[in-house]
Amino acid sequence: MSDLGGKVALVTGGGQGIGRSIALRLAQGGADLALFDRDGGSLEKTAAEVRALGRRAAAFLGDVADEAAVARAVAGAEGELGPLAILVNNAGICRVAPFLETNIEDLREQLRVNVEGVFLCCQRVVPLMVKRRQGCVITMASFAGKSGRPYFAAYSASKFAVIGLTQAIAAEVAPFGVRVNAICPGIVVSTGMRREIEEAHRRFGLADTGERAKAIPLGRTAEPEDVAGVAAFLASPAADYITGEAIAVTGGLWMD
Ligand SMILES: NC(=O)c1ccc[n+]([C@@H]2O[C@H](COP(=O)([O-])OP(=O)(O)OC[C@H]3O[C@@H](n4cnc5c(N)ncnc54)[C@H](O)[C@@H]3O)[C@@H](O)[C@H]2O)c1
Repeated sequence: MSDLGGKVALVTGGGQGIGRSIALRLAQGGADLALFDRDGGSLEKTAAEVRALGRRAAAFLGDVADEAAVARAVAGAEGELGPLAILVNNAGICRVAPFLETNIEDLREQLRVNVEGVFLCCQRVVPLMVKRRQGCVITMASFAGKSGRPYFAAYSASKFAVIGLTQAIAAEVAPFGVRVNAICPGIVVSTGMRREIEEAHRRFGLADTGERAKAIPLGRTAEPEDVAGVAAFLASPAADYITGEAIAVTGGLWMD
C-alpha cells in the first residue's frame, strides 16, 4: 500500500498500543509521521521504528489536553515535516470502576484527556485543513461510545462525546473537503490500556478477556493492527466519500 505517499500525519498517543500501530501502518503507506505522546521513552521508540521504514518522523512530548503543548506539537510538525494532511486523535485513558464508586475526579480526568484532548487537537489542525481545502481527521472512540457499559460510566460518557464531536465537526467542515470519522474498537489486546482494564476486571471479579472473547462473532479479540488497517483505509483516497461515520471494529460484538 503506498497511497499515502508524501502525506504528513500527526498521531496522538503514538508511543504505544493502537497509536503506535497506526503510525507504523501509515508510514508503510508512505506517510511521514509526527508523533505526540506524554511518554517520552515510547515516543522515541516509535519514531525510530518509523525511520527504519524509510519515512521521516518527528516526536513531540506533551499532554493532548494542554493547549500550549498542542500548539507546539502542531507548529513543530508542520515546521519539520510540512502541511498536515492526516490527524489521528488516538490518545486516551480509561479507568474502570463501578458507577457508585466513580469519583468525580475520575470523570473529569477522562473527559479532560479523551474529550478536551480531541477538541484541542482538532481546533488547532482543522482550520489549517479547511484553508487548504483537504484533510482527514480520525478520532478514536470505542464501542463503549455507542452503548453504555457497566463499570465504564465515565469512559463511556467520554467516548459518546467523542462521537458527537466527530459528527458535528464532520458536518461543519465537509463543504471544505475535510473528512472526519471515528473508529470504535472493541476489545483490543496487547496494549497498555487493555492490561489496565484486565487488572481492574480481576479486581472487581469480572469476566476475563478469554471469557468475553467467546461472545465475539468473529471468534477472537482484536490486535492493534486490526484497528490500524481501518485507520489507513480512512486516511486513503479509497475513503474519499466517507465522513461523519463512527465505524465499529469489534469483530461483530457491536453491530449498528
Ligand atoms: N485497547 C482497547 O481495547 C481499546 C478499545 C476501544 C478504544 N480504545 C481507544 O484506543 C485509544 C488507544 O488505546 P490503547 O489501548 O492503545 O492504549 P495505550 O494505553 O496502550 O496507549 C495510549 C497512548 O496514549 C498516550 N496518552 C495517554 N494520555 C495522554 C495524554 N494526556 N497526552 C498525550 N498522550 C497520552 C499514552 O502515553 C500511550 O502511549 C484510546 O483512545 C482508547 O480509548 C482502546
